[in-house]
Amino acid sequence: MEILQTSAELQAQTEHWRKTGRRIGLVPTMGALHEGHLQLVEAAARENDVVVTSIFVNPTQFNNPEDFRLYPRLPEADAALLGPAGCTTLFMPDVAQLYPAPSVLRFDFGTLERVMEGIHRPGHFSGVATVVSKLFHVSRPHRAYFGQKDLQQVAIIRQLVADLSFDLELVVFPTVREADGLAMSSRNRRLTPAGRATAPVLYQALQLAQALVEQQVPPARVREAVQQRLAQEPTITLEYFEVADAGTLQPLDGPEWPAGRPVALCLAAHLDGVRLIDNIVLG
Ligand code: PAF
Repeated sequence: MEILQTSAELQAQTEHWRKTGRRIGLVPTMGALHEGHLQLVEAAARENDVVVTSIFVNPTQFNNPEDFRLYPRLPEADAALLGPAGCTTLFMPDVAQLYPAPSVLRFDFGTLERVMEGIHRPGHFSGVATVVSKLFHVSRPHRAYFGQKDLQQVAIIRQLVADLSFDLELVVFPTVREADGLAMSSRNRRLTPAGRATAPVLYQALQLAQALVEQQVPPARVREAVQQRLAQEPTITLEYFEVADAGTLQPLDGPEWPAGRPVALCLAAHLDGVRLIDNIVLG
């Protein structure tokens, strides 16, 4: 596996691959890799001739400077995992490489970002769309791989690909969980042992919501039940729990469930000063 740090080097490499008919898979990450990332890399290796994995902690998507400062950075350990998983090229630019000057462009994804993460992390999706566009331009992938744990991010990137006519296929993989149900996340590394022991309660709350939705309990009562369940955990602060249409991500509020529409149950919560998100999609 080669490691490249400049966009010019990666562009030269991907241009050569394209000219020689190689199919390129891209796995964009912010590093501190876990099994969920490695499954994306392995899938990209199966479905393409070459795989680019990017590791870049993107400052423009962090609305909280402390969260950016504390985001885990483990470049050597990450690099050691990527080769065996099938990565061909690891792209690790620094901030000046991707942002030689502060970017002025701002994205607005309309109703898609007026809910959940978009409300609680102002500017987050504009930063994600900016960096993902840059990564698409320099790596020119045929396929790009993302995890469903970031459900709203996937919806935003799908819109980005459609609106800007990126000629690539988005491949989305299910959330990978620890044995106790906690969704794998780079941020889990920041939990204390006590926080780590409590964290599976988030998934349990989503499973409770799932059971209620399956019994056709109205959305407002599902919200109340999840809020009450998490209020029993003094170390957890729920930021939001939403019951939404999985396609549009708009909240479901009516007393009736819309027939035949997949439902997304999504939450964000703080535990040990760490912000965690999770979701389940039903139907
Ligand atoms: O999901 C992530 O790790 C990041 O948001 C991404 C897509 C790599 C953009 O920085």
